[in-house]
Amino acid sequence: MDHNRLGDLSLGVATSAYQIEGAVDRDGRGQSIWDTFTARAGTVKNGDTGEHAAAHYDNVVDDLDLLSWLGVDVYRFSIAWPRILPEGVGRPNPAGIGFYDRLVDQLLERGITPSVTLYHWDLPEALQQKGGWPNRDTAEQFAEYALTVARTLGDRVTMWATLNEPWVAAFVGHLTGEHAPGIRDVQAAVDAAHHLLLGHGLATQALRTVTLGKVGIVLNPTVVWPASDRPEDIAAADLADGVRNRWWFDPVLRGSYPADVLQVFESVVDTDGLRPEDLDVISSPIDWLGINYYTPESVAGGPPGDDAIGPGIDHVKTRPVEGEHTTMGWVVRPEALTELLVRVHNDYGPIELWITENGAAYDTGPGPDGTVADEARVRYLESHLSAALDARDQGVPLAGYIAWSFLDNFEWAEGYEQRFGIIYVDYETQARIAKQSAHWLRDLLAQRGRRPGS
Ligand code: FCB
Repeated sequence: MDHNRLGDLSLGVATSAYQIEGAVDRDGRGQSIWDTFTARAGTVKNGDTGEHAAAHYDNVVDDLDLLSWLGVDVYRFSIAWPRILPEGVGRPNPAGIGFYDRLVDQLLERGITPSVTLYHWDLPEALQQKGGWPNRDTAEQFAEYALTVARTLGDRVTMWATLNEPWVAAFVGHLTGEHAPGIRDVQAAVDAAHHLLLGHGLATQALRTVTLGKVGIVLNPTVVWPASDRPEDIAAADLADGVRNRWWFDPVLRGSYPADVLQVFESVVDTDGLRPEDLDVISSPIDWLGINYYTPESVAGGPPGDDAIGPGIDHVKTRPVEGEHTTMGWVVRPEALTELLVRVHNDYGPIELWITENGAAYDTGPGPDGTVADEARVRYLESHLSAALDARDQGVPLAGYIAWSFLDNFEWAEGYEQRFGIIYVDYETQARIAKQSAHWLRDLLAQRGRRPGS
């Protein structure tokens, strides 16, 4: 990859709190829905939990040294709500805030920009007990939490994301139940989706009162290709696009829900809780939009079944897409990333875009000489970075590219089996080994030198 192509693009790596921190009982942290979910038999592969994860909480300084060694411009991480407010609301926990306060300072000392995500799926269990995201109060409480964090970090953090992938939190958490809180209830799923978006809007407004940092949201739009040009497949793809993409982009950036999807949801649930006036809050202006991209999807129309990919669309079936697959079973198609960025820009721009996650799971461990030769990951990252730059060449205002993930970590329902890191983690000893992909990124950054304009 020619480093000259990068221009002033910011480069970084990402993690999230529950996936790396461990130390779940330390320093007054309260329980999250992922602690209780993983404690239930059969929820996560091999019974894995985030109890120890990559022990980042205890190794934070060494991990920061690794970030310096990589030479990244940005580090995207998330804050664990239960460390800040162990009961979800009420009195903040100084030790929890202190951890992130020091993290931010240490990043800045190293010349690395912190990109803070406020919610990466680890809702305080105490709030789940009161109904969780299907309960409207959770949106208000999220804004309070955002305010608490920003009161401490708001003078130094210039990049905020309210939510990570609300589609997953709402539908994988409340419709298919594969993620915490493990609910399978279409009404709960639609209500959770709305309250997550409302929480985003309220938190955006709250953040504006205490920080001058840029505020955004991280979505995970999917490129949906119809499996064929049969009218029923094209209609299925359109609806899947509605549920996966337009349901999230439209309210945030246009202040309305897409009528076709709303009609489908109305046919299966009571939508009275989706108050029209909430859309003014949800569409509070944002400064940037984060996009997590991994893989495209092909869909076909079929007979109704019990494998719905969204509320009310159980006739929409996913079909295999041709190409190489990662160990997650996700197909590798970098050109879909170019298509996606161009589409988001055309339909919802102008707004500054970031790729906030992109990466691949491959099970490459240390060889006899102790090095980790993950060429497949290098190819994945290189081809996707290049596809992102293709979109920028076509006029998309792409400001940054952040790879998932800095470290191997707890991959939710997949446990530790799926390794996304550019740094290998030996979970027995918690030793880190920079994989070939880490060396690739480091070399690219070293060749580029200082980022133009920084
Ligand atoms: C995304 C999540 C992230 C990680 C990657 C593989 O959906 O935001 O935490 O699990 O997928």
